[in-house]
Amino acid sequence: MRKKRLAALLAALLLALALPACSAAEEPPAIRIGVAVYLQEDTFISTITQHLQQMAMEEEQARGVKINLSIADSRGNQSVQNEQVDRFLDRGCDVICVNIVDRTAAAVLVDKAQAAGVPIIFFNREPVEEDLNRWERAYYVGSKADRAGKLQGELVLNAWRFSQEELDRNGDGVLQYVMLEGEPGHQDALMRTEYSVRTLVSAGVPVEKLANNNADWQRGQAKMRMQQWLDQLEKPIEVIFANNDDMALGAIDALVEEGIPPEEMPFIVGVDATPPALAAMAEGSLKGTVQNDAKGQAERMLELCCKLAFGEELPPEKITDGHYVWLWYTAVTKENLTALLGELS
Ligand code: GAL
Ligand code: CA
Repeated sequence: MRKKRLAALLAALLLALALPACSAAEEPPAIRIGVAVYLQEDTFISTITQHLQQMAMEEEQARGVKINLSIADSRGNQSVQNEQVDRFLDRGCDVICVNIVDRTAAAVLVDKAQAAGVPIIFFNREPVEEDLNRWERAYYVGSKADRAGKLQGELVLNAWRFSQEELDRNGDGVLQYVMLEGEPGHQDALMRTEYSVRTLVSAGVPVEKLANNNADWQRGQAKMRMQQWLDQLEKPIEVIFANNDDMALGAIDALVEEGIPPEEMPFIVGVDATPPALAAMAEGSLKGTVQNDAKGQAERMLELCCKLAFGEELPPEKITDGHYVWLWYTAVTKENLTALLGELS
């Protein structure tokens, strides 16, 4: 009898000892990722965050881990963003991703991350090189800014070569254009503006800039700029370069309001390949765009986050100069439009 009771007691004791160990083993490993974006309502940025959320769920399943992803909207304010990063660090994030508001202000964030020993990944808004070089665990994921400009320039160059009479509306042999620019100082705004035109000039196309202005990537602002130009400019606009699709769509909004049908609109090109831009291409108002790979950027970021958080080795061939993960842009023309529209639906 006593022996039996002792055995039962021993069994209960063993069970009690085993239980916490057992439930701890069942908990999947968890990581925390904090993401701060300059402006959540930006069309391209919101596409990246949607992909990130979706892919984090898929990665949880694939790896059998828990990924806590927090996204903060910095609403265009660098001090708000700095506080958001502080909060992420206080809450024990394993990796921080920053779509920095002011790309010249990265040093402070790199230093904060380094002090906390938490890797930091910047994306889409490229910090200056010296800031990224402050710490070996600071990274940038993005696309080469000049390439989108070159591709835009090539889209227009091809049209000029193949149907100059259509493009050169006033028949003076010169291409009259306007430029809708993104935020001042943004690497993509500066480089797309420069390289789009440079591509035409180096190919020997005579160009004349009728007007340019910033519209901060936004459709509403671009529409206003375009309305002003339609009122003020004397020469006909033959090409509209927009640093992104939302601004190209803003220009189209202004033209539609003037009662101009798609076939009479200037040759308009954007960048990003957002769903509404592809729809505008199908309709014929937008003539071309350049795909900014939101999905690829989200994929690379998440891959980097997981590797850093789980202490896995980073593939050196994917990281240039120890800090950069580059993605490619692709031109969107009538030829590959159908395939892209298919991918989206
Ligand atoms: C660009 C993109 C724009 C805007 C901007 C924000 O790469 O083409 O549409 O999202 O980033 O930083
Ligand atoms: Ca002309």
